[in-house]
Amino acid sequence: MKGLQGIACIDELELKDKNVFMRVDFNVPMKDGVITDDNRIQAALPTIRYALENGGKVILASHLGRPKGEYKKEYSLEPVAQRLGELLDLEVILIEEPTSEAPKSLLHSLKPHQVLMLENVRFESGEEKNATALTNHWLEYVDVYINDAFGASHRAHASIVALPKQIEKRGMGFLVKKEIEVLSQMMTDPQKPFWAIMGGAKVSDKLQVIDRLVDLVDGIVIGGAMAYTFLKAKGFQVGNSLVEKEQLNYAKDLIERMEGREKKLLLPIDHLVVQNLDEMAESRITQTEAIDEGWMGVDIGPQSRELFAKELVDAKMVFWNGPMGVFEMKPFSQGTFFIAEVLAHLDAMTVIGGGDSASAAKQSGFAEKMSHLSTGGGASLEFLQGDSLPGIEVLRASNKRLS
Ligand code: 3PG
Repeated sequence: MKGLQGIACIDELELKDKNVFMRVDFNVPMKDGVITDDNRIQAALPTIRYALENGGKVILASHLGRPKGEYKKEYSLEPVAQRLGELLDLEVILIEEPTSEAPKSLLHSLKPHQVLMLENVRFESGEEKNATALTNHWLEYVDVYINDAFGASHRAHASIVALPKQIEKRGMGFLVKKEIEVLSQMMTDPQKPFWAIMGGAKVSDKLQVIDRLVDLVDGIVIGGAMAYTFLKAKGFQVGNSLVEKEQLNYAKDLIERMEGREKKLLLPIDHLVVQNLDEMAESRITQTEAIDEGWMGVDIGPQSRELFAKELVDAKMVFWNGPMGVFEMKPFSQGTFFIAEVLAHLDAMTVIGGGDSASAAKQSGFAEKMSHLSTGGGASLEFLQGDSLPGIEVLRASNKRLS
């Protein structure tokens, strides 16, 4: 694992009076045009503030959603620019046509209390094609390139790969640095006992990560819908719970591998079950051996919570990815929030994978107590399964400028 070798951090670059193009990941969840979780914006603030305090003229670029190369109002960064302005207490000017002359002329007259933000880079058809035609517009005014978009660094897109390839003064922001440091430490020098808690709907999404973790961890807790594929593989009837039939052999194999290495693999022993996935549905607690046809598990039960807490108590490092149940629905959120509470009280390094687990940790009210909340969903999984991230690789000094 090359880690951060050969990658400059923003605090090693000269920024004074320079036009600093900063790729951030402000792909935040929204409902009816309102941001429901601004964690990704908050996480980029230290890098933005540093650039401003050190005399840089900051141009922020991000994607939001998947508008597929055309303008769609619902994917406009307008609410994001507004939220960032409030957090920074600065005016954030949103440039609606980033490939026009506007950025250049605005940069010319930019005042110290102003920041520019380009409208959603995925409104440009060249972004996802990693097209140099698009980067040519940016190259006309960019002096320094900073990637602080860890969550998007697994995408070989123009603002993440093609652009920095052509800029000699390039590096990472503090958010990217911390993400890589924490995730690398977990994979190369984990503190023991090291536990992984995996959850969420699908085994297939997490196969490769679990495979890598098997060698490193002392135990794995499996919850969420994913657990039913493992329980089925062990021969239990799981009623109507979600099972990935094509992963049953993988699940059996994993159970055997863990046993063979005398490592623990914990599955729920009781469950909150319902007949319909509806908050108002009648629910009951059922033991693993007794899930009836027509019923499906939507959360771990109280005995499972107790079992998991007892095993995790001595952990020195924990990686958590994926909820224990359908936590988005209040009646089915207890197991997930309980795990967050357990982690919050451990004397351990606790790393929360991005996406659902990060927002579950936040909703539980225990996020502040975690050692690290990753801002990357797909990116952190790809990094942990050993893939190199194109947006990180391109920053290495050894990757010569191509222009
Ligand atoms: C994410 O939310 O995981 C990142 O912002 C990447 O988004 P994408 O999956 O649409 O590329």
